[in-house]
Amino acid sequence: MSYLDKIDKTHLPKHIAVIMDGNGRWAQQRGLDRTFGHKEGEAAVRRAIEAVAIAGVPYLTLYAFSTENWRRPEEEIKALMALMIQAVSRQTAELVKNNVRVKVIGDIARLPEDTQKALDYCLQTTSVCTGSTVIIALSYSSKWEITEAVKAIAADIEAGKIETKDITENLITSYLATKDYPDPDILIRTGGELRISNFLLWQIAYSELYFTDELWPEFNEESLYKAIVDYQNRERRFGKTSQQVSGNP
Ligand code: IPE
Ligand code: IPE
Ligand code: MG
Repeated sequence: MSYLDKIDKTHLPKHIAVIMDGNGRWAQQRGLDRTFGHKEGEAAVRRAIEAVAIAGVPYLTLYAFSTENWRRPEEEIKALMALMIQAVSRQTAELVKNNVRVKVIGDIARLPEDTQKALDYCLQTTSVCTGSTVIIALSYSSKWEITEAVKAIAADIEAGKIETKDITENLITSYLATKDYPDPDILIRTGGELRISNFLLWQIAYSELYFTDELWPEFNEESLYKAIVDYQNRERRFGKTSQQVSGNP
């Protein structure tokens, strides 16, 4: 029986975020160059997108390249940027077919021009899609995002558009790159590391964390459905007591 059949369709997560880690190790275990792991990672991305579309999860955020990843060897960065172009051009038609809209968050201006162009094409072409939204975090880090938000809030105060007393949690949220999306219900990290690596720090304040040893190229539809089932068996209390949440006196 597939984990898909065990999912309670009335209690789906609205947003799943994924730290796609383990490409390099997957390749190295096979005596291959790390780049092969990134190539294989593309297939896992396709599977994850298809799985959320089938399960009916409205938002999927994929951490593809962090601000800190700019510190990697130049050759690996080049290969990743080239792969991004290939992946985007290969997959746009399929995304449209599956009614998936693509968005990006991150410091996109830092990406090479041809990568930006390929992304633009994908964003434009899929903008009409009304099914699931896939948000790719590229050249992204949470501290970068929060720093940008603080600068923008300060600028709007200086310009007289808002006042210090207007600063609330909701206002801060509205200055983040993720302002149009709900906070993730689940954060999945593949690859066995137990850390967040500067990803969505504000947004995951109350997310359910799910770590798996599977390396990203091994991650498939079943892995994602399994994570959803695990999530559905948790009790989210948001500070309340179990009795309050379950409605039992
Ligand atoms: C994740 O896989 C992909 C990126 C960060 C771009 P890694 O490349 O980090 O793989 P490992 O962690 O070295 O195995
Ligand atoms: C996190 O993976 C970033 C992405 C998956 C894009 P890393 O492999 O870069 O994380 P650290 O540096 O090991 O924490
Ligand atoms: Mg890694």
